[in-house]
Amino acid sequence: MPTLTWVGKDKVVNHHHDVPFKVLRHESHFDAPEGSPVNSTGNRIIHGDNLEALKSLLPEFEGKVNCIYIDPPYNTGNEGWAYNDAVNDPKIKKWLGQVVGKEGEDLSRHDKWLCMMYPRLKLLHRLLAKDGVIFISIDDNEHATLKLLMDEIFGLRNFIDNVIWQKKQSPQNDSTYFSDMHDYIMVYAKQAKTSKLDTNGFELIKLQRTQVQDDRYTNADNDERGVWTSSDYTCNKNADERPNLYYPIINPNTNEEILPKRTSVWRYSKDRHLENIENNLIYWGSDGKGRPRFKRFVEAVSGVVPSTLWLRDFAGDNQEARKEFRKIFHETEADFSTPKPSTLIERVLQIATNKDSLILDSFAGSGTTAHAVLKLNAQDGGNRRFILIEMEDYADTITAERVRRVISGYGEGTKKVAGLGGSFDYYTIGEAIFNPDDTLNEAVGIEVIRHYVAYSEGIPNADQTPQDNTYTPYLMGLNSDTAWLFYYEPNEVTCLDLDFLNTLKFGVAKPGTAIIYADKCLLTKEFMTQYSIIFKKIPRDITRF
Ligand SMILES: C[S@@+](CC[C@H](N)C(=O)[O-])C[C@H]1O[C@@H](n2cnc3c(N)ncnc32)[C@H](O)[C@@H]1O
Repeated sequence: MPTLTWVGKDKVVNHHHDVPFKVLRHESHFDAPEGSPVNSTGNRIIHGDNLEALKSLLPEFEGKVNCIYIDPPYNTGNEGWAYNDAVNDPKIKKWLGQVVGKEGEDLSRHDKWLCMMYPRLKLLHRLLAKDGVIFISIDDNEHATLKLLMDEIFGLRNFIDNVIWQKKQSPQNDSTYFSDMHDYIMVYAKQAKTSKLDTNGFELIKLQRTQVQDDRYTNADNDERGVWTSSDYTCNKNADERPNLYYPIINPNTNEEILPKRTSVWRYSKDRHLENIENNLIYWGSDGKGRPRFKRFVEAVSGVVPSTLWLRDFAGDNQEARKEFRKIFHETEADFSTPKPSTLIERVLQIATNKDSLILDSFAGSGTTAHAVLKLNAQDGGNRRFILIEMEDYADTITAERVRRVISGYGEGTKKVAGLGGSFDYYTIGEAIFNPDDTLNEAVGIEVIRHYVAYSEGIPNADQTPQDNTYTPYLMGLNSDTAWLFYYEPNEVTCLDLDFLNTLKFGVAKPGTAIIYADKCLLTKEFMTQYSIIFKKIPRDITRF
């Protein structure tokens, strides 16, 4: 498989491992006003660089995100907008300087963009559920490089498709060459199905049929099974490829013998054709004297397979997005030059999420993804949740503020838009869980430390125990095979010895193996082997005690 190289790649391919785990600091909670419609709770908006934020989400959300939509800077070379599109944001420049080093100063625009995207896509891949899917908005500035990057990180076989989204209504006549009318949305599954019958991996949901589509169904022969439309009785195989499908069919009304063309034979075998006659599934034209067509009943058609061409009447366009933004923020309040229309993201959610999905947008901008999630929930009674991440200072004043207004309602008089309900929590990025010398940063608190250790031990969620469990406050997890204990006291050195073991009373729940974290261990190797005890030293400096 061809792979892409660029200046600085060697510095970033493993960088996601080096990004410190940091605590997400809870800043505020926002709830819909009383009497608002019910909508999802447990939503999050995080202000910070998405690299750190994504890493911090791993302990809680690795493998749990169902759908990711991102709209990263397209790297068009335009700067000085409400956000910086050219990866020349001081924060990203500083980050590149730290990660790529001196070499970083000479990187081209494209090298920088790739360095920025690679570790973030790596983390997004880890956050995605087995049957999850990622949609990435992009244009021709980085489309080709992104495709190779995604092939490398997600795997070529997990490429689903490239959607073409019509972003404008009218062509620009002053373009030097073509008038650019579309963006792409690149779609990759964490695991794509190997065939239609494969029950694993990402499942695309068909779109609901529209009235226009339903109107194509009639009932020319008053069939009691309801309305139907007719489709071709032939297929695109020739008589040499499918000799069994090249046979004469008799029109029962005229007794005429009808042959298909040798270049497009019947779609159905002789036996299946006889069944079709038996089941009144053939239409012979309005006068009954025509060639056969297949009767397709509306009930049998479960929905519409989405196409890769999304026109503006289907998914909105940039102009609609700006109008939508302006309805929420008066021009004296805030500006954002590149919002996406919420209709576009609703389409993504309709085909890729169910009512309980978790949706992540780590380049949140004006918060359109949250808007789309809340809108769709309001329409179908769903409980989809979102996590948004935005680096710039407008994370609060635009990203979160838009969501507050969408939840509570906005506008005045005849332009008033009712609130959709729901709530969210707002976070910033706090302290690292580890100090630079790899010892625990105890200042983050026991809850965070226990949660991190449970994650690094891979304790299944269902087996994790709170501190106020019935056995011991040091228990972190328990199942029939293993007990995990974190014997930690902030102000004293803890010692794994017989006295400590005597305090543990598991009774019948006694597991086979005990993994015990403590500062010291006084048990002998033989004893630990005999009772299947594994000691792990808590990484902290205990010389101060
Ligand atoms: C094209 S805009 C997204 C627009 C969004 N889809 C909407 O509808 O409003 C890209 C956003 O990603 C943000 N961004 C860029 N780099 C980031 C990073 N490293 N971490 C978090 N946000 C970032 C930018 O500040 C900008 O707001």
